[in-house]
Amino acid sequence: MNSLLKSQRISAERTRPQSRTSKPEPRSLAALRRAAGDCRDCDLWKNATQTVFGEGPSRAKVFLVGEQPGDQEDLAGHPFVGPAGKILDEALQQAGIDRTEVYVTNVVKHFKWAPAQRGKRRIHKKPRFTEIQACRPWLDAELQTVKPEVLVCLGATAAQSLLGREFSVTRHRGQLVESPLAPKVVATVHPSSILRAPDAAARQSQMQEFVRDLTRIAALL
Ligand code: URA
Repeated sequence: MNSLLKSQRISAERTRPQSRTSKPEPRSLAALRRAAGDCRDCDLWKNATQTVFGEGPSRAKVFLVGEQPGDQEDLAGHPFVGPAGKILDEALQQAGIDRTEVYVTNVVKHFKWAPAQRGKRRIHKKPRFTEIQACRPWLDAELQTVKPEVLVCLGATAAQSLLGREFSVTRHRGQLVESPLAPKVVATVHPSSILRAPDAAARQSQMQEFVRDLTRIAALL
């Protein structure tokens, strides 16, 4: 076994919970998606509509990882189709990256939310470390199946769960990071951070920086 596969196996085994009933091994994405649909390895499935598995070509060169599906992704069953997904689509297009050629997924595959104080809105809640750990074998299996050239962590949750809890996206965005997970690994901001920009000018400059990071990523191919 080569050292890349060996180190991936070690990290998958370390994080695999004892109680796991489903065993994601590298196989087809369709088989993984079906198996993940029944995952009960943490409690997030109880309040979610469905598992939102990754999507994209099985031989994608670029593999994008976000945090977890949002409200619209939970209902639709597809990653990055809500407001953050629209920002991502626009930025990818500006960077000259075809989204249909990219694999898009999340570190956690169920929507974690709490009811709004008033109204029916479902408010996004950050996943716990234990929930990210419970979901990690699915991400490892996606990576081992797709074998991307470039792995891109979108935001701190993805970056810290894949590159270490001390990793700072602010300090290291757009830089190549040494990692056994893929030949080239980079982190940038999560597109939802652009949605939270305080005004139009801030949104425009944050979008430009995001596009600049993605343009550099395109140049790595
Ligand atoms: N935010 C994410 O991190 N992932 C999605 O799929 C949607 C929003």
